[in-house]
Amino acid sequence: MNFLAPFESLSPVPFETTWRSPANIAFVKYWGKKGHQLPANPSLSMTLKNCFTETRVRFEVGTARPGVELLLNGVRQDKFAGKIETYLRSLASMPWLENVQVLVETRNTFPHGTGIASSASGLSAFALGLTDYLFHLSGVKVDFFRTASYLSRLASGSASRSVYGGFVSWGEESDLYASPVGVHPELAHLRDSVLVVSGEEKAVSSTAGHGRMSDHAYAEARFAQARTNYQRTLAALSAGDLTEIGAVLESEALSLHAMMLTAPSAFTLMRPNTLAAIEMIWAFRRETQLPLYFTLDAGPNLHLIYPESSQHKIRTFIAHELSPLALTVIDDECGEGPVKC
Ligand code: DP6
Repeated sequence: MNFLAPFESLSPVPFETTWRSPANIAFVKYWGKKGHQLPANPSLSMTLKNCFTETRVRFEVGTARPGVELLLNGVRQDKFAGKIETYLRSLASMPWLENVQVLVETRNTFPHGTGIASSASGLSAFALGLTDYLFHLSGVKVDFFRTASYLSRLASGSASRSVYGGFVSWGEESDLYASPVGVHPELAHLRDSVLVVSGEEKAVSSTAGHGRMSDHAYAEARFAQARTNYQRTLAALSAGDLTEIGAVLESEALSLHAMMLTAPSAFTLMRPNTLAAIEMIWAFRRETQLPLYFTLDAGPNLHLIYPESSQHKIRTFIAHELSPLALTVIDDECGEGPVKC
């Protein structure tokens, strides 16, 4: 299906819109691409609540300076503006966009440099604003979020999943857009405390990391493992089986980082305190039998996943034992998805 067909020849008018879009944490990881922004395996994530990006986009027409201007927390950021400009130019089936001036004002609720991926929230917030504009100009009334997910994916794969709340899958129903998946009521309020062990810029970006899967000796085995873990997670989410989800979560995190360590051009994004925290989480679980699990994105920081029912004891452990290993801890939980402001 050509999602952009209704928007190919529109006459632009000025428009302004503001969206809040959250970050997400992948339970089953997208790591490796086929073609342009298509995933090598299905992925599944939980949308967060407190970590989000709020973005106001103004579309101006008839100005002498079509192009993109971007302010992050009030400060001009030409690098990010350039990324949005490249992205808009890649949407070649909508050539009229070249005559539009795009003014972006954006801010994250989570501090910059904490290693929390801002690309999923940031680029989905922008794509939601763009979708709003396309729907306004064309009068199209259906599939708003599906179109936003499609446009988000083209900017950053994981951003495709941030346009829905709860648990979201991408690459099973379709490679082109993400879709929400069902969850047992007991898992609808899972907690995620992010243990920020380093705020340094990553040595290898996610996009470059995906590229290192293309000639990886274990690529096919990894994609098969992710497909199995995807089915396991889907079944466990609907059954409310947190033990099974925890097993997949940790296996996915360690496999992702094992892919980095075993890539032809090897690298690691873990830091000594990442491993120290993992050992402490395993010991805590053995001793207390409490359901605390970890996962990692493409970075050194741990996402600590646990149910609302064990929140008190687990947060005490995090505050006393784990937080000395970290720069900061950000408490978050499963959220309901983007909102228009
Ligand atoms: C490890 O979505 O950042 O977080 O499509 O190149 O922008 P691009 O990659 P990106 O990759 C995310 C990788 C991950 C796993 C995940 O979120 O599924």
